[in-house]
Amino acid sequence: MEHEKYMRRCFELARRATGLVSPNPLVGSLLVKDGNLISEGWHREFGSPHAEAEALNQAGAESAGCDLYCNLEPCSHTNKKTPPCVPHIIGSGIKRVVISNRDPNPDVNGEGILKLREAGIEVIEGILEDEGRELNKFFFHFITKRTPYVTVKIAQTLDGKITSCEGKQTRITGVDALRDVHKLRNSYDAVLVGSKTVSIDDPQLNVRRINGRNPIRIVLDCELNLPLDRKIFNSRDPEKTWVFTGKNNDAERIEKLKASGVRVFEFDSDGANCIGICHILKFLGEQNIASLLIEGGAGTFTKFLSANQFDELIVYHAPLFFARGVTAILEPFETVLKPWSVRILGKDTKTVFKKEN
Ligand SMILES: NC(=O)c1ccc[n+]([C@@H]2O[C@H](COP(=O)([O-])OP(=O)(O)OC[C@H]3O[C@@H](n4cnc5c(N)ncnc54)[C@H](OP(=O)(O)O)[C@@H]3O)[C@@H](O)[C@H]2O)c1
Repeated sequence: MEHEKYMRRCFELARRATGLVSPNPLVGSLLVKDGNLISEGWHREFGSPHAEAEALNQAGAESAGCDLYCNLEPCSHTNKKTPPCVPHIIGSGIKRVVISNRDPNPDVNGEGILKLREAGIEVIEGILEDEGRELNKFFFHFITKRTPYVTVKIAQTLDGKITSCEGKQTRITGVDALRDVHKLRNSYDAVLVGSKTVSIDDPQLNVRRINGRNPIRIVLDCELNLPLDRKIFNSRDPEKTWVFTGKNNDAERIEKLKASGVRVFEFDSDGANCIGICHILKFLGEQNIASLLIEGGAGTFTKFLSANQFDELIVYHAPLFFARGVTAILEPFETVLKPWSVRILGKDTKTVFKKEN
Protein backbone atom coordinates (compact mmCIF):
# COMPACT_ATOMS: atom_id res chain seq x y z
CA MET A 1 0.00 0.00 0.00
CA GLU A 2 2.85 2.40 0.88
CA HIS A 3 4.49 1.71 -2.47
CA GLU A 4 1.25 2.45 -4.32
CA LYS A 5 0.65 5.65 -2.36
CA TYR A 6 4.09 7.02 -3.24
CA MET A 7 3.86 5.82 -6.84
CA ARG A 8 0.55 7.67 -7.28
CA ARG A 9 2.32 10.80 -6.05
CA CYS A 10 5.07 10.20 -8.65
CA PHE A 11 2.35 10.07 -11.34
CA GLU A 12 0.88 13.36 -10.04
CA LEU A 13 4.28 15.05 -10.14
CA ALA A 14 4.98 13.66 -13.62
CA ARG A 15 1.65 15.01 -14.97
CA ARG A 16 2.68 18.58 -14.10
CA ALA A 17 4.82 18.55 -17.24
CA THR A 18 2.03 17.37 -19.57
CA GLY A 19 2.73 18.68 -23.07
CA LEU A 20 6.19 19.98 -22.15
CA VAL A 21 8.60 17.03 -22.28
CA SER A 22 7.79 15.22 -25.52
CA PRO A 23 9.25 13.07 -26.97
CA ASN A 24 10.62 12.31 -23.50
CA PRO A 25 8.46 10.50 -20.91
CA LEU A 26 6.53 12.10 -18.04
CA VAL A 27 8.46 11.23 -14.89
CA GLY A 28 8.02 12.04 -11.21
CA SER A 29 10.28 10.97 -8.35
CA LEU A 30 10.46 11.29 -4.57
CA LEU A 31 12.65 10.25 -1.65
CA VAL A 32 11.30 8.70 1.55
CA LYS A 33 13.12 7.85 4.79
CA ASP A 34 11.50 6.11 7.80
CA GLY A 35 8.05 6.92 6.43
CA ASN A 36 8.87 10.63 5.96
CA LEU A 37 8.79 12.36 2.59
CA ILE A 38 12.23 13.96 2.11
CA SER A 39 12.03 15.50 -1.38
CA GLU A 40 10.17 15.48 -4.69
CA GLY A 41 11.04 16.20 -8.30
CA TRP A 42 9.73 15.87 -11.82
CA HIS A 43 11.05 16.17 -15.35
CA ARG A 44 9.87 19.72 -16.15
CA GLU A 45 10.62 20.17 -19.82
CA PHE A 46 12.53 18.60 -22.68
CA GLY A 47 16.27 18.80 -21.94
CA SER A 48 15.83 19.75 -18.26
CA PRO A 49 17.19 17.57 -15.37
CA HIS A 50 15.52 14.23 -14.87
CA ALA A 51 13.02 13.73 -12.03
CA GLU A 52 15.40 11.56 -9.97
CA ALA A 53 18.18 14.18 -10.25
CA GLU A 54 15.74 16.87 -9.06
CA ALA A 55 14.67 14.83 -6.03
CA LEU A 56 18.28 13.87 -5.16
CA ASN A 57 19.59 17.43 -5.54
CA GLN A 58 16.81 18.79 -3.37
CA ALA A 59 17.53 16.23 -0.61
CA GLY A 60 21.33 16.70 -0.77
CA ALA A 61 23.15 14.77 1.99
CA GLU A 62 19.80 13.56 3.33
CA SER A 63 19.55 11.23 0.32
CA ALA A 64 21.75 8.64 2.05
CA GLY A 65 19.67 5.71 3.33
CA CYS A 66 16.48 6.86 1.53
CA ASP A 67 14.11 4.88 -0.68
CA LEU A 68 13.81 6.46 -4.13
CA TYR A 69 10.45 6.18 -5.93
CA CYS A 70 10.24 6.86 -9.65
CA ASN A 71 7.59 5.87 -12.17
CA LEU A 72 10.18 4.98 -14.82
CA GLU A 73 13.37 2.95 -14.60
CA PRO A 74 16.33 5.34 -14.04
CA CYS A 75 18.52 5.82 -17.08
CA SER A 76 22.06 4.52 -17.39
CA HIS A 77 23.08 5.60 -20.89
CA THR A 78 25.19 8.61 -21.79
CA ASN A 79 24.20 9.44 -25.40
CA LYS A 80 21.82 12.26 -24.44
CA LYS A 81 21.74 15.84 -23.12
CA THR A 82 21.40 15.07 -19.40
CA PRO A 83 23.81 12.93 -17.30
CA PRO A 84 22.64 9.37 -16.48
CA CYS A 85 20.73 8.98 -13.20
CA VAL A 86 22.00 5.56 -12.10
CA PRO A 87 25.54 6.71 -11.05
CA HIS A 88 23.93 9.69 -9.26
CA ILE A 89 21.59 7.34 -7.34
CA ILE A 90 24.43 4.97 -6.43
CA GLY A 91 26.68 7.88 -5.36
CA SER A 92 23.93 9.34 -3.16
CA GLY A 93 23.69 6.26 -0.94
CA ILE A 94 20.08 5.35 -1.85
CA LYS A 95 19.07 2.11 -0.11
CA ARG A 96 16.17 0.97 -2.29
CA VAL A 97 14.63 2.00 -5.65
CA VAL A 98 10.92 1.44 -6.36
CA ILE A 99 9.66 1.86 -9.93
CA SER A 100 6.49 1.36 -11.93
CA ASN A 101 7.77 0.61 -15.47
CA ARG A 102 10.95 -0.56 -17.09
CA ASP A 103 12.13 1.96 -19.69
CA PRO A 104 11.41 0.42 -23.14
CA ASN A 105 14.07 2.68 -24.69
CA PRO A 106 16.47 0.12 -26.23
CA ASP A 107 19.35 2.12 -24.65
CA VAL A 108 17.99 1.39 -21.15
CA ASN A 109 15.48 -1.52 -21.06
CA GLY A 110 16.59 -3.20 -17.81
CA GLU A 111 20.16 -1.92 -17.93
CA GLY A 112 19.45 0.74 -15.27
CA ILE A 113 17.91 -1.86 -12.93
CA LEU A 114 20.83 -4.24 -13.50
CA LYS A 115 23.42 -1.59 -12.64
CA LEU A 116 21.54 -0.57 -9.49
CA ARG A 117 21.35 -4.22 -8.33
CA GLU A 118 25.02 -4.77 -9.12
CA ALA A 119 25.76 -1.82 -6.82
CA GLY A 120 23.86 -3.61 -4.01
CA ILE A 121 20.69 -1.47 -4.22
CA GLU A 122 17.39 -3.32 -3.82
CA VAL A 123 15.03 -2.66 -6.78
CA ILE A 124 11.28 -3.28 -6.68
CA GLU A 125 9.53 -2.95 -10.06
CA GLY A 126 5.99 -3.23 -11.41
CA ILE A 127 4.17 -0.99 -8.91
CA LEU A 128 0.93 0.24 -10.61
CA GLU A 129 2.46 -0.89 -13.88
CA ASP A 130 -0.68 -0.46 -16.03
CA GLU A 131 -1.31 3.10 -14.78
CA GLY A 132 2.36 3.92 -15.44
CA ARG A 133 2.09 2.59 -18.99
CA GLU A 134 -1.10 4.60 -19.62
CA LEU A 135 0.56 7.77 -18.29
CA ASN A 136 3.41 7.33 -20.76
CA LYS A 137 1.54 5.70 -23.64
CA PHE A 138 2.89 8.26 -26.14
CA PHE A 139 6.50 7.67 -25.07
CA PHE A 140 6.17 3.87 -24.98
CA HIS A 141 4.73 3.86 -28.48
CA PHE A 142 7.16 6.37 -29.98
CA ILE A 143 10.37 4.95 -28.53
CA THR A 144 9.69 1.52 -30.01
CA LYS A 145 7.86 2.38 -33.28
CA ARG A 146 9.28 5.83 -34.14
CA THR A 147 5.84 7.01 -35.32
CA PRO A 148 3.31 8.98 -33.24
CA TYR A 149 0.62 7.44 -31.04
CA VAL A 150 -2.57 8.26 -32.98
CA THR A 151 -5.94 9.03 -31.40
CA VAL A 152 -9.05 9.60 -33.52
CA LYS A 153 -11.44 11.94 -31.71
CA ILE A 154 -15.06 12.23 -32.83
CA ALA A 155 -17.96 14.31 -31.49
CA GLN A 156 -21.20 12.73 -32.64
CA THR A 157 -24.91 12.30 -32.01
CA LEU A 158 -26.47 9.08 -30.78
CA ASP A 159 -27.11 8.13 -34.41
CA GLY A 160 -23.47 8.71 -35.34
CA LYS A 161 -23.74 12.11 -37.12
CA ILE A 162 -21.00 14.74 -36.91
CA THR A 163 -23.02 17.51 -38.55
CA SER A 164 -26.72 17.90 -39.35
CA CYS A 165 -26.16 19.07 -42.91
CA GLU A 166 -23.36 18.49 -45.42
CA GLY A 167 -21.20 21.57 -45.92
CA LYS A 168 -22.21 23.13 -42.60
CA GLN A 169 -20.89 23.04 -39.05
CA THR A 170 -23.22 21.89 -36.27
CA ARG A 171 -22.21 22.26 -32.63
CA ILE A 172 -22.62 18.77 -31.15
CA THR A 173 -21.22 18.71 -27.62
CA GLY A 174 -21.43 21.02 -24.60
CA VAL A 175 -18.85 23.12 -22.78
CA ASP A 176 -17.54 20.31 -20.54
CA ALA A 177 -16.67 18.16 -23.54
CA LEU A 178 -15.13 21.15 -25.33
CA ARG A 179 -12.96 21.85 -22.30
CA ASP A 180 -11.91 18.21 -22.30
CA VAL A 181 -10.85 18.52 -25.95
CA HIS A 182 -8.65 21.48 -25.04
CA LYS A 183 -7.03 19.32 -22.35
CA LEU A 184 -6.35 16.70 -25.01
CA ARG A 185 -4.85 19.32 -27.33
CA ASN A 186 -2.56 20.42 -24.53
CA SER A 187 -1.25 16.87 -24.12
CA TYR A 188 -0.80 15.91 -27.81
CA ASP A 189 2.18 17.09 -29.85
CA ALA A 190 0.04 17.69 -32.94
CA VAL A 191 -3.60 17.77 -34.08
CA LEU A 192 -4.66 17.05 -37.66
CA VAL A 193 -7.73 17.91 -39.77
CA GLY A 194 -8.84 17.55 -43.38
CA SER A 195 -9.16 20.55 -45.67
CA LYS A 196 -12.97 20.55 -45.65
CA THR A 197 -13.08 20.96 -41.89
CA VAL A 198 -10.85 24.02 -42.20
CA SER A 199 -12.96 25.36 -45.05
CA ILE A 200 -16.34 24.78 -43.35
CA ASP A 201 -15.67 25.09 -39.59
CA ASP A 202 -12.71 27.52 -39.68
CA PRO A 203 -11.33 26.08 -36.41
CA GLN A 204 -8.45 27.62 -34.45
CA LEU A 205 -7.25 24.24 -33.13
CA ASN A 206 -5.47 25.91 -30.24
CA VAL A 207 -5.78 25.66 -26.44
CA ARG A 208 -8.07 28.37 -25.04
CA ARG A 209 -10.40 26.81 -22.50
CA ILE A 210 -7.63 25.78 -20.11
CA ASN A 211 -4.12 27.07 -19.40
CA GLY A 212 -1.74 25.20 -21.64
CA ARG A 213 0.36 25.30 -24.75
CA ASN A 214 -0.79 24.97 -28.34
CA PRO A 215 -0.10 21.79 -30.31
CA ILE A 216 1.17 21.84 -33.89
CA ARG A 217 -1.88 22.13 -36.22
CA ILE A 218 -1.70 20.02 -39.38
CA VAL A 219 -4.09 20.43 -42.30
CA LEU A 220 -4.23 17.96 -45.18
CA ASP A 221 -4.86 20.04 -48.28
CA CYS A 222 -3.76 17.98 -51.26
CA GLU A 223 -4.56 20.60 -53.90
CA LEU A 224 -3.66 23.59 -51.76
CA ASN A 225 -6.84 25.49 -52.48
CA LEU A 226 -7.98 26.52 -48.99
CA PRO A 227 -8.77 30.23 -48.60
CA LEU A 228 -5.87 32.00 -46.89
CA ASP A 229 -8.20 33.93 -44.59
CA ARG A 230 -8.86 30.80 -42.47
CA LYS A 231 -8.03 31.24 -38.79
CA ILE A 232 -5.28 28.59 -38.70
CA PHE A 233 -3.35 30.57 -41.35
CA ASN A 234 -3.63 33.74 -39.30
CA SER A 235 -2.68 32.66 -35.78
CA ARG A 236 -0.24 34.20 -33.32
CA ASP A 237 2.07 31.21 -33.74
CA PRO A 238 2.03 30.61 -37.52
CA GLU A 239 5.05 28.29 -37.37
CA LYS A 240 2.77 25.83 -35.58
CA THR A 241 0.48 25.54 -38.62
CA TRP A 242 1.77 22.85 -40.97
CA VAL A 243 0.13 22.31 -44.38
CA PHE A 244 0.61 18.87 -45.95
CA THR A 245 0.03 19.07 -49.66
CA GLY A 246 0.78 17.29 -52.93
CA LYS A 247 3.64 18.15 -55.29
CA ASN A 248 3.48 20.68 -58.16
CA ASN A 249 0.88 22.96 -56.58
CA ASP A 250 0.66 26.72 -57.09
CA ALA A 251 4.19 27.97 -56.22
CA GLU A 252 2.96 31.52 -55.55
CA ARG A 253 0.46 30.25 -53.01
CA ILE A 254 3.13 28.17 -51.29
CA GLU A 255 5.38 31.25 -51.07
CA LYS A 256 2.53 33.33 -49.61
CA LEU A 257 1.92 30.75 -46.90
CA LYS A 258 5.61 30.42 -46.12
CA ALA A 259 6.02 34.20 -45.99
CA SER A 260 3.32 34.33 -43.32
CA GLY A 261 5.29 31.85 -41.20
CA VAL A 262 3.16 28.78 -41.99
CA ARG A 263 5.16 25.64 -42.83
CA VAL A 264 4.29 23.80 -46.05
CA PHE A 265 5.39 20.23 -46.72
CA GLU A 266 4.97 18.67 -50.16
CA PHE A 267 4.33 14.92 -50.38
CA ASP A 268 4.02 12.44 -53.26
CA SER A 269 0.36 11.63 -53.71
CA ASP A 270 -0.73 7.98 -53.78
CA GLY A 271 -2.59 8.32 -57.09
CA ALA A 272 -6.02 8.98 -55.58
CA ASN A 273 -4.98 12.55 -54.80
CA CYS A 274 -4.11 11.48 -51.30
CA ILE A 275 -1.01 11.47 -49.15
CA GLY A 276 -0.48 7.97 -47.79
CA ILE A 277 -1.26 7.78 -44.07
CA CYS A 278 1.90 5.72 -43.48
CA HIS A 279 4.00 8.47 -45.13
CA ILE A 280 2.39 11.08 -42.92
CA LEU A 281 3.13 9.10 -39.76
CA LYS A 282 6.70 8.27 -40.77
CA PHE A 283 7.37 11.94 -41.56
CA LEU A 284 5.89 13.06 -38.22
CA GLY A 285 8.04 10.52 -36.38
CA GLU A 286 11.12 12.01 -38.06
CA GLN A 287 10.03 15.40 -36.69
CA ASN A 288 9.89 13.90 -33.14
CA ILE A 289 6.09 14.16 -33.05
CA ALA A 290 5.22 11.43 -30.53
CA SER A 291 1.44 11.92 -30.40
CA LEU A 292 -1.20 12.93 -32.93
CA LEU A 293 -4.89 13.76 -32.41
CA ILE A 294 -7.14 13.39 -35.48
CA GLU A 295 -9.91 16.00 -35.19
CA GLY A 296 -11.94 15.38 -38.36
CA GLY A 297 -13.89 15.41 -40.45
CA ALA A 298 -15.52 12.25 -41.69
CA GLY A 299 -13.23 11.69 -44.68
CA THR A 300 -10.15 12.07 -42.52
CA PHE A 301 -11.48 9.93 -39.63
CA THR A 302 -12.28 7.21 -42.15
CA LYS A 303 -8.83 7.26 -43.78
CA PHE A 304 -7.02 6.69 -40.48
CA LEU A 305 -9.51 4.10 -39.23
CA SER A 306 -9.74 2.06 -42.43
CA ALA A 307 -5.95 2.07 -42.83
CA ASN A 308 -5.78 0.76 -39.24
CA GLN A 309 -3.32 3.59 -38.52
CA PHE A 310 -4.58 4.55 -35.08
CA ASP A 311 -4.14 3.43 -31.49
CA GLU A 312 -7.14 4.91 -29.71
CA LEU A 313 -10.61 6.15 -30.56
CA ILE A 314 -12.38 8.75 -28.41
CA VAL A 315 -16.08 9.32 -29.02
CA TYR A 316 -17.97 12.18 -27.37
CA HIS A 317 -21.66 11.25 -27.62
CA ALA A 318 -24.22 14.03 -27.29
CA PRO A 319 -27.85 13.17 -26.41
CA LEU A 320 -28.97 14.26 -29.89
CA PHE A 321 -30.53 12.42 -32.81
CA PHE A 322 -30.28 14.09 -36.24
CA ALA A 323 -31.52 11.26 -38.47
CA ARG A 324 -29.91 13.15 -41.38
CA GLY A 325 -26.51 14.76 -41.95
CA VAL A 326 -22.98 13.41 -42.23
CA THR A 327 -21.98 10.12 -40.61
CA ALA A 328 -18.67 10.15 -38.70
CA ILE A 329 -17.28 6.96 -40.22
CA LEU A 330 -18.00 6.59 -43.93
CA GLU A 331 -17.04 2.97 -44.46
CA PRO A 332 -16.70 -0.13 -42.26
CA PHE A 333 -13.29 -0.92 -40.80
CA GLU A 334 -11.94 -4.23 -39.55
CA THR A 335 -10.16 -3.30 -36.31
CA VAL A 336 -11.69 -4.77 -33.17
CA LEU A 337 -12.04 -2.21 -30.38
CA LYS A 338 -12.60 -2.64 -26.67
CA PRO A 339 -14.08 0.04 -24.41
CA TRP A 340 -11.39 1.42 -22.09
CA SER A 341 -13.17 4.09 -20.07
CA VAL A 342 -16.50 5.92 -19.90
CA ARG A 343 -17.00 9.39 -18.40
CA ILE A 344 -19.98 11.70 -18.17
CA LEU A 345 -19.20 15.32 -19.15
CA GLY A 346 -22.27 17.49 -18.56
CA LYS A 347 -24.95 16.08 -20.87
CA ASP A 348 -22.41 14.24 -23.02
CA THR A 349 -20.60 10.93 -22.61
CA LYS A 350 -16.94 10.36 -23.44
CA THR A 351 -15.99 6.79 -24.33
CA VAL A 352 -12.39 5.80 -24.96
CA PHE A 353 -11.76 2.68 -27.05
CA LYS A 354 -8.46 0.90 -27.54
CA LYS A 355 -7.54 -1.81 -29.99
CA GLU A 356 -8.09 -5.41 -28.91
CA ASN A 357 -4.61 -6.97 -28.93
N1 LIG B 1 -18.26 16.44 -35.01
C1 LIG B 1 -16.96 16.29 -35.25
O1 LIG B 1 -16.24 15.61 -34.52
C2 LIG B 1 -16.38 16.99 -36.44
C3 LIG B 1 -15.01 17.26 -36.45
C4 LIG B 1 -14.47 17.88 -37.58
C5 LIG B 1 -15.30 18.20 -38.65
N2 LIG B 1 -16.61 17.93 -38.58
C6 LIG B 1 -17.48 18.21 -39.74
O2 LIG B 1 -17.04 17.37 -40.79
C7 LIG B 1 -17.32 17.98 -42.03
C8 LIG B 1 -16.12 17.90 -42.90
O3 LIG B 1 -15.77 16.53 -43.08
P1 LIG B 1 -15.42 15.97 -44.52
O4 LIG B 1 -15.47 14.50 -44.42
O5 LIG B 1 -16.30 16.63 -45.53
O6 LIG B 1 -13.98 16.50 -44.80
P2 LIG B 1 -12.56 16.49 -44.03
O7 LIG B 1 -12.22 15.13 -43.53
O8 LIG B 1 -12.51 17.63 -43.09
O9 LIG B 1 -11.63 16.87 -45.24
C9 LIG B 1 -11.48 15.96 -46.30
C10 LIG B 1 -10.41 16.51 -47.18
O10 LIG B 1 -9.17 16.49 -46.47
C11 LIG B 1 -8.13 16.20 -47.36
N3 LIG B 1 -7.53 14.92 -46.98
C12 LIG B 1 -7.98 14.01 -46.10
N4 LIG B 1 -7.13 12.97 -46.04
C13 LIG B 1 -6.14 13.24 -46.90
C14 LIG B 1 -4.97 12.58 -47.30
N5 LIG B 1 -4.64 11.38 -46.77
N6 LIG B 1 -4.18 13.17 -48.20
C15 LIG B 1 -4.50 14.37 -48.72
N7 LIG B 1 -5.58 15.05 -48.39
C16 LIG B 1 -6.39 14.49 -47.51
C17 LIG B 1 -8.76 16.09 -48.76
O11 LIG B 1 -8.67 17.40 -49.24
P3 LIG B 1 -8.58 17.78 -50.76
O12 LIG B 1 -10.00 17.70 -51.22
O13 LIG B 1 -8.03 19.16 -50.71
O14 LIG B 1 -7.71 16.81 -51.45
C18 LIG B 1 -10.20 15.71 -48.42
O15 LIG B 1 -11.08 16.06 -49.44
C19 LIG B 1 -17.73 19.41 -41.72
O16 LIG B 1 -19.13 19.54 -41.89
C20 LIG B 1 -17.37 19.60 -40.27
O17 LIG B 1 -18.29 20.49 -39.64
C21 LIG B 1 -17.17 17.34 -37.50
